[in-house]
Amino acid sequence: MKKFVIVSVLAIIAVFGVFLGSGGSSDLEGIDIEIFMSASCGCCRFYSDYLKSKGAGMTVNTVSNSELSEIKSSMGIPINMQSCHTLKVGNYFVEGHVPKEAIMKLIEEKPDIDGIALPGMPSGSPGMSGTRKGEFTIYSITNGKVSEFTRI
Ligand code: CU
Ligand code: CU
Repeated sequence: MKKFVIVSVLAIIAVFGVFLGSGGSSDLEGIDIEIFMSASCGCCRFYSDYLKSKGAGMTVNTVSNSELSEIKSSMGIPINMQSCHTLKVGNYFVEGHVPKEAIMKLIEEKPDIDGIALPGMPSGSPGMSGTRKGEFTIYSITNGKVSEFTRI
């Protein structure tokens, strides 16, 4: 009976260990993120601080650049999807105050798209002050075509 208890405990520990392992964020380590923003943008700085502190192992590099509209159009971000800053994550763009969960989903699922965007600067989104009003809709963009990516 004692042996059975020990085996059961070991089995539970093993299952729990697998569970913890699969839930870890280690696969995001080594992901480099570049943030293109203007040096005078306050909410951009707050957003990069948000990613640096809660980025789950991602490396965040800030690039101050004054040619933001050229960067956005060269990446194929439609005007109505634009926000203040633009991230480069691998081959994807991530536009605006996008919650990190959406970036993780992008990295994990690797969809065949150009990038994702949270247009405007909704209040209560990461790096923005104010209270949020409902869910944020994050859009995916492919060749200028917009569809819904996720809601957070
Ligand atoms: Cu902003
Ligand atoms: Cu910004």
